[in-house]
Amino acid sequence: MESKERLQKAIAKSGYTSRRKAENLITEGRVKVNKKKVTELGTKVGPNDQIEVDGIPIEKEEPIYILLYKPRGVISSVSDDRGRKVVGDLISAEIEERLFPVGRLDYDTSGLILLTNDGEFSQKLIHPKYKINKVYIAKIKGIPSKEDMRQLKKGVESDGEFLKCVNSRILKTDFKKRNSIIELTLQEGKNRQVRRMLESLGYQVDKLKRERFGPLTLGNLNPGEYRELTPHEVKQLVDLAEKNVK
Ligand code: URA
Repeated sequence: MESKERLQKAIAKSGYTSRRKAENLITEGRVKVNKKKVTELGTKVGPNDQIEVDGIPIEKEEPIYILLYKPRGVISSVSDDRGRKVVGDLISAEIEERLFPVGRLDYDTSGLILLTNDGEFSQKLIHPKYKINKVYIAKIKGIPSKEDMRQLKKGVESDGEFLKCVNSRILKTDFKKRNSIIELTLQEGKNRQVRRMLESLGYQVDKLKRERFGPLTLGNLNPGEYRELTPHEVKQLVDLAEKNVK
């Protein structure tokens, strides 16, 4: 029997866009299946159905997964209307697939970011319900109290949002220079979350780096360098997300 899947999932899997955006395309009436307009989100399609967006058939690309060490001063998006450097600029032209970042890191934040054309994979890794740990190292002004380190785990309020981490520890303190290096582990990824959490307790963040994403680390990569994930690593990430949601 032919295996069927939801239309939005098939569009996301092709690398065209994320599942959420694919849902919008469908409800906006921009998607056709076998030449017929479809606006119903539950519609199921099989491998032989022809899907078009805005009248153009979507191409099925091979999925590709890249681990990039994003340097500071680069935007986590595919393009920038102000002409600033984006993560896609760091990837060789030999990789022709349309890549998009899995979540984002701020312009001033460095560290591990994944790029892929697999919308389903991306969705699994960024949604907090899948509970993937992301580990950040922050250099901050001041020496945080034990109470503040605990408060980061209990949660803080910032701009009407409740933000928390699952683990927080001090790695190093310099009493002379009055600064510290701390590690925070997050499962959520709200906008500028680490910076906002620390700033809400009065700590200025001088540097921020994402060191780990689930089981993945930066390894020997230097800023600006990247490598492809192995099939085993991709499976490891998907299995981890699926296990966490059970
Ligand atoms: N938290 C931040 O504040 N910035 C990032 O880039 C990622 C997490």
